[in-house]
Amino acid sequence: MIEFNGSTSTQEKTLSVAPMLDWTDRHCRYFLRLICPSCVLYTEMITTSALLLGRDPERFLEFSNAEHPLILQLGGDDPAAMRMVAGMALAHGYDGLNLNVGCPSPRVQKGRFGACLMAAPDLVADLVAALGENGLPVSVKHRLGLDREEDYAVLRTFVETVAAAGCRHFIVHARNAWLKGLSPAKNREVPPLRWDWVHQLKKDLPHLTVEINGGFRDVATAMAQFAAVDGVMIGRAAYHHPMLLAEMERALGRREALPDPRVILRELIEYAERWGDTLPAPRVSRHLHGLRFGESGAGAWHRFLDTAETTENAASFLRRGLLLLRRTDQNIVTHGQ
Ligand SMILES: Cc1cc2nc3c(=O)[nH]c(=O)nc-3n(C[C@H](O)[C@H](O)[C@H](O)COP(=O)(O)O)c2cc1C
Repeated sequence: MIEFNGSTSTQEKTLSVAPMLDWTDRHCRYFLRLICPSCVLYTEMITTSALLLGRDPERFLEFSNAEHPLILQLGGDDPAAMRMVAGMALAHGYDGLNLNVGCPSPRVQKGRFGACLMAAPDLVADLVAALGENGLPVSVKHRLGLDREEDYAVLRTFVETVAAAGCRHFIVHARNAWLKGLSPAKNREVPPLRWDWVHQLKKDLPHLTVEINGGFRDVATAMAQFAAVDGVMIGRAAYHHPMLLAEMERALGRREALPDPRVILRELIEYAERWGDTLPAPRVSRHLHGLRFGESGAGAWHRFLDTAETTENAASFLRRGLLLLRRTDQNIVTHGQ
């Protein structure tokens, strides 16, 4: 049972799309922004070493103005590196910084960051203090705990320790990270979800902004969270069914009608035209499978997207996609499906 926390305005509640490696790249984010003007977007996790030692950091940092509000998610364990990267983020115009304390992948564990930082709250405190030095808002995205240890007091101490270093915003993926024996994908399914722990956190630490993440797939369940916490972050469901974000905006009173997929596609074509031949079709098409989620034209749409070739630019491919959408929708009307 969710208890009401006393705040009446849904306008001040945050809806965000989770950072997802290999999924929420800039083209995906542009597409999601067309569908949902009000949600907060996050970059994929970028490591401080990729930004400081990599050959082409700009490739990771660049984004379109339309993507605002946009948060840069970082992975790393070195406060000095965080300080430098925070400067780069400020120069690029990001709206905030987020520290990844939730990723359980073996590669990330080798670097001793991501979810294993849950065991090092003092280091996380140093990292957020370094990130916050230039004034950009800082948040931490973390898990409930590590492996089989299920102790709410440990979670609360973690959050209190990090909050004491100046972080005011916590995004909680509401399950533990099991560091051994579970792939990252299984780590998003197997450890049990405990939304009630996140609700308790907000109740115990009401001065903090607490956002809940993990397992939200429908509007009613996600909307119910706003009675107990300040924000809801949606990951996989937002990618596979992006119109869910517009449905959430409607439920929050931020819009009336849902966007027309053909209008979204037209706007995406304008975006792709600005890139010309530098944007091959598959770099955009791969993110568009969810556009017709649950609709009768979905099968034809998937088959079309699967034909994208790197030899065609995205604008030209999407123009053909728009014709297909028009044709399918006409057939549906004509045949009364
Ligand atoms: C393909 C994929 C990549 C992900 N990459 C990241 C990442 O870079 N940083 C991060 O904090 N979480 C990452 N996650 C986890 C999500 O941000 C989110 O916490 C998780 O999927 C649970 O939310 P959901 O049930 O709404 O999907 C990833 C998830 C997926 C599916």
